[in-house]
Amino acid sequence: MLDKITGTVKEAGGIILSAHNRESAVTAKEGKKNFVTKFDVAVQDFLFKELAKAFPEAEFVGEESENDFGSKALRFIIDPIDGTTNFMQDYRCSCISVALCEGNDIIAGVVYNPYTDEIFSAEKGKGAYLNGVKIKVSSRPLSDGLALFGTSPYHPENTDETFALLRRVFDFSRDIRRSGSAAYDICMIACGRCEVFFEKALQPWDIAAGTLILKEAGGVALNYEGNEISFSCPNDVVFANPEAYKEFITLL
Ligand code: IPD
Ligand code: CA
Ligand code: CA
Repeated sequence: MLDKITGTVKEAGGIILSAHNRESAVTAKEGKKNFVTKFDVAVQDFLFKELAKAFPEAEFVGEESENDFGSKALRFIIDPIDGTTNFMQDYRCSCISVALCEGNDIIAGVVYNPYTDEIFSAEKGKGAYLNGVKIKVSSRPLSDGLALFGTSPYHPENTDETFALLRRVFDFSRDIRRSGSAAYDICMIACGRCEVFFEKALQPWDIAAGTLILKEAGGVALNYEGNEISFSCPNDVVFANPEAYKEFITLL
């Protein structure tokens, strides 16, 4: 199952790497921060088409389509390009994120950064991998670690809260980083390079695959209230190693 998904996702990465005139390929724009390019749509179309061949019984939810959550037992939740602003400006940090869910359970997750050729993957109960090598979260506490965050760029109502929390996290930790791809950030926690990632109002396609990868790597994935993340609505989320999580929630 995972081999089929990773193969398809890697192939789709080729569309990202070979894209030209990315900034002029914008097909939709909401405010001054939220863009869609024809490449987001092309990657999603490719994934829907190819994965449907291998999983004819599955339904598809993707960022770039009408999202009616139907009633099929298997559902893909897909972000074709997580980090569209990075992509448009050739910042070279964007990922494809593909999760396969059975009911409310994520049973497989793949996050691929084509620029670094890093493929993060997990199947429920079978551990998490980076390019086929098993990964786990770090044991570094946040006080000796790096914190990642997202700015909730499409939700300005969250800005003050995010930056106030960021200030507390910055004071508490070694330093902070902002990649521009939530899916990649979660994988950075999963493979132990960083300790905490937090952002308000993330959508299911930003986090579904990363959540399984992180949990299979021994991490904690919860919302700001300490509850399980829902994959049918936006969530305020924290992803961390268990030690760093305990410290982080004292700063919320
Ligand atoms: C965005 C990225 C970004 C995060 C935003 C997401 P998109 O996804 O993950 O890092 O801060 O909240 O919406 O729009 O590039 O797919
Ligand atoms: Ca996204
Ligand atoms: Ca996207």
